[in-house]
Amino acid sequence: MNRTSRRHFLGAFSVSAAGSLALNDATGQTALVGSHPKLVGVACSPREGKSTRAAVQLALDAAKEEYPGLEVELIDLAGLKIPGELAAGLPLEHGQTDDFPKVAEKLVDPRVIGILVGTPVYMGTMSSLCKAFLDRCIVFRRDWALRDKVVGALAVGGSYHGGQDTTVLAVLAALMRQDVIVVGDGKPIAHPGATLRSEKDSIETDDTGRASAKGLGRRVAEVALRLAARS
Ligand SMILES: Cc1cc2nc3c(=O)[nH]c(=O)nc-3n(C[C@H](O)[C@H](O)[C@H](O)COP(=O)(O)O)c2cc1C
Repeated sequence: MNRTSRRHFLGAFSVSAAGSLALNDATGQTALVGSHPKLVGVACSPREGKSTRAAVQLALDAAKEEYPGLEVELIDLAGLKIPGELAAGLPLEHGQTDDFPKVAEKLVDPRVIGILVGTPVYMGTMSSLCKAFLDRCIVFRRDWALRDKVVGALAVGGSYHGGQDTTVLAVLAALMRQDVIVVGDGKPIAHPGATLRSEKDSIETDDTGRASAKGLGRRVAEVALRLAARS
């Protein structure tokens, strides 16, 4: 389905006074998609305002452009303290702080129908911040709070073939333990996730990578909205 026919399938969204999103399917029927459905992007670079954040924002912006009624929010983990060892039941040390609960609160919001996770590539895999975040998400398995949310992954490396692909797969492997629904960056690239190369701390010159980030944002939004319309 190309972008024009996808728009036709999902129809032009309209937002009711109550914040519900109405969408028309191919049969002309209208379905209400929850209240203020939302897509969240989590940027997992420890560096504030750098390439990973830009890539996640690009994906969110593309989703918003395609489906204007969808709310989007970027959560930047840079500067936050997310101690990974708490996932294993260890206590906070004296003076140690934990920002995970405020991130978790946003993710379990029932309005959140899709989640994008973006990480820099560090030594061929995700950043330790990303791993700590994903490990801490183990709490969601208690009541399967992320179940059926649609997720996508994005990786930004400094090199071509720097491990972006395997990093995306590692992130997805962790997310799949939440019983989520995994999607890639959709046609025409249709890879497991978005892969980008940063040059001088910028993704501006990576047209192919930027296209994959936009595709990922649109695809997560598309599938999440379709599922939300059916439930
Ligand atoms: C510890 C470390 C390891 C890295 N390992 C890789 C790597 O294996 N492959 C790669 O392509 N880039 C690697 N890089 C480069 C980063 O992935 C790249 O600079 C990325 O844009 C950083 O994301 P940010 O700009 O959002 O912080 C590494 C950088 C650091 C600091």
